[in-house]
Amino acid sequence: MQHGPLRNAYLDALGIDRWVPRHAPVEVQPTPVASAEARVIEVPQARAPQPAPDAFTKTPPVPLEPGIDWGPLRERVAACTACELCKTRTQTVFGVGNTRAEWLIIGEAPGAEEDRQGEPFVGRAGQLLNAMLLAIGLPRETVFIANILKCRPPGNRDPRPEEVARCLPFLRAQVALLKPKMILVVGRIAAQTLLATDAPLARLRGKLHHFGEARTPLVITYHPAYLLRTPADKRKAWDDLKFARATYQKLVAETN
Ligand code: URA
Repeated sequence: MQHGPLRNAYLDALGIDRWVPRHAPVEVQPTPVASAEARVIEVPQARAPQPAPDAFTKTPPVPLEPGIDWGPLRERVAACTACELCKTRTQTVFGVGNTRAEWLIIGEAPGAEEDRQGEPFVGRAGQLLNAMLLAIGLPRETVFIANILKCRPPGNRDPRPEEVARCLPFLRAQVALLKPKMILVVGRIAAQTLLATDAPLARLRGKLHHFGEARTPLVITYHPAYLLRTPADKRKAWDDLKFARATYQKLVAETN
């Protein structure tokens, strides 16, 4: 698939100047993505039945059985009442994309539109995220996108530690099932949560981190919602994306 003109259009949408070669034009190779036959698209379900308000319990959630598959995991997420967010959500937001994807994108938590539609990153920030991904040769449908929290915090407040603690096993199970080759984390809160640090985003960007027992390569960049408010930092986000893509390509070349 040739993404050249599209990629340029998206770089323009990102507000990023395009590099133009002075001499011979160089063919831009799209980043390899999972093969078409491997594509299994997780389509968000229509609004799942929600627990009755009195079903809410503060007792710890039942641990996930090791090796739990996508279907049962989705059901466990949809039925979760492990924290107060189950009282205010419209529906859970499990995650979306290719369950054979090599890239996992991790955000913070659903916003209002995601809560309404049951799919992560569907609002304005989602459109920018799509543009950012496409700029490195990754159409949205070729990656898997998930959040730290599967339910919307009211008023889009920051996730609370107990909410993160109750929800993180779901994301860990998603990572275990997907076995991504690269994790791209967007935003300070998701980054600090996954790396168990309070270091500022500026210190976490531009470095290769690793996540979990599999030590999956992990790169951090700005949250697209932040970039919508602070377009001057789009240039730095573009550097992060190029770094993530180069790291992934090196890794793939080493393992082939
Ligand atoms: N912001 C996030 O971090 N995740 C979403 O799904 C939407 C907005």
